[in-house]
Amino acid sequence: MSEIAQNTYKVSFDENNQEFSIIGSMRPQYAEELDTCLRLMESSVAKVKGTVYVNVKRLVRLNNLAFRMLAGLLVKTGRERPDLTIWVITSSVVGWSTRKFAALQAVIPNIAVEEYDAEFYPGQALVENSQFIAVLRTQTKLTWRHEKTMLPRHGMREGLAIADICCGIGDFAMLVHKEFKPGRLVALDHSKPSLEYARKVAADFGIQGIEYIYGDASEMLLADDQFDFVTCRHSLQIFDRPELILKELYRICKPGGRVYITNEKNSHCLGEPRGENIQWTYNELAKLFSHFNMDIELGPKSRRYLNDCGFEDVRMESYMVTNLDGDPQDFADIVECWKGVCVDDLSVRRGDSDEFRERFARGFDDHVFAALHPKGYAGWPIWVASGQKPL
Ligand SMILES: C[S@@+](CC[C@H](N)C(=O)[O-])C[C@H]1O[C@@H](n2cnc3c(N)ncnc32)[C@H](O)[C@@H]1O
Repeated sequence: MSEIAQNTYKVSFDENNQEFSIIGSMRPQYAEELDTCLRLMESSVAKVKGTVYVNVKRLVRLNNLAFRMLAGLLVKTGRERPDLTIWVITSSVVGWSTRKFAALQAVIPNIAVEEYDAEFYPGQALVENSQFIAVLRTQTKLTWRHEKTMLPRHGMREGLAIADICCGIGDFAMLVHKEFKPGRLVALDHSKPSLEYARKVAADFGIQGIEYIYGDASEMLLADDQFDFVTCRHSLQIFDRPELILKELYRICKPGGRVYITNEKNSHCLGEPRGENIQWTYNELAKLFSHFNMDIELGPKSRRYLNDCGFEDVRMESYMVTNLDGDPQDFADIVECWKGVCVDDLSVRRGDSDEFRERFARGFDDHVFAALHPKGYAGWPIWVASGQKPL
């Protein structure tokens, strides 16, 4: 890895990934200020074969002079090295960037511009549409009664600076705001419909002080070492490379602060009566998600992930949301939502047969039956884990 750090930006080249990254704000007054950066870029590209990635996902500001210099070098490289494909990776979080760099691909055939957020997580689009809002709302309604008592065991207390990453519709952030009165509370997600919903709910309830931010959890624009408590619930399990998100959670957490994650192991959902059908469907559900590169079996692996990322004092516990927690209809509502997402959407996208989908649906129906049966029992297990960033 070669690296140049200037006051406001950092430029690095990762030889393994053939990736050149520029992070920060690049606003030189004179062309010479960019000499070292451009030289690093030239010497790096000279070593590359096939494809080179120019990652500008976290390049938040770029003045015209810097853009002209960068663009000039990319165009020159594209022309001199027709053997090379140059992928410029932008992010929708930085509004101007795709538009600006896209101009280059119109001029040079071997330059391609990719808006990373849309393409890099195979399952991402699935969880970002508004259909998911109903699932998330009902889920949090049932999980909160458990987590409220567990959170203090993981370091939650009043007055902390807290970030909820992949906050969904922001209901957890609202509950934390009411219950634990944080000093600061940031809630970040990559779904615009969910954030819109979150802001509306906060406004309707007259809650002020939650900063809802549109962002990408794997490349956050939040500074290092800012938060005492960073939460990321039910989300590491939807990324194909959860360790990248965890690294970001670690980065924004203060030394001595804690990162708190919750994840599931869906094949362990259970119910009686009709236990066998239910078991079959949830085993298939785990396979279905893994087809879309999501590991919804991640829960029990949380301890390993936290340790591998460098956390200390890892604490882990699990709980089971059941139909006996409150109104059994709430549990049944969650299962109905899962059925909608899995049978009517994901299974269709995978191209499953009608016979398969019929049997798949039956297990969900039987789970609802178990939840609502006067002598029935239905469960959904969740793993909670947290780790401390070393001082
Ligand atoms: C399963 S939901 C969990 C939401 C919330 N934490 C909860 O427990 O209700 C996963 C969330 O991750 C968000 N997400 C997906 N990709 C993301 C990304 N790259 N950056 C930030 N959020 C992302 C989705 O929009 C969705 O709201």
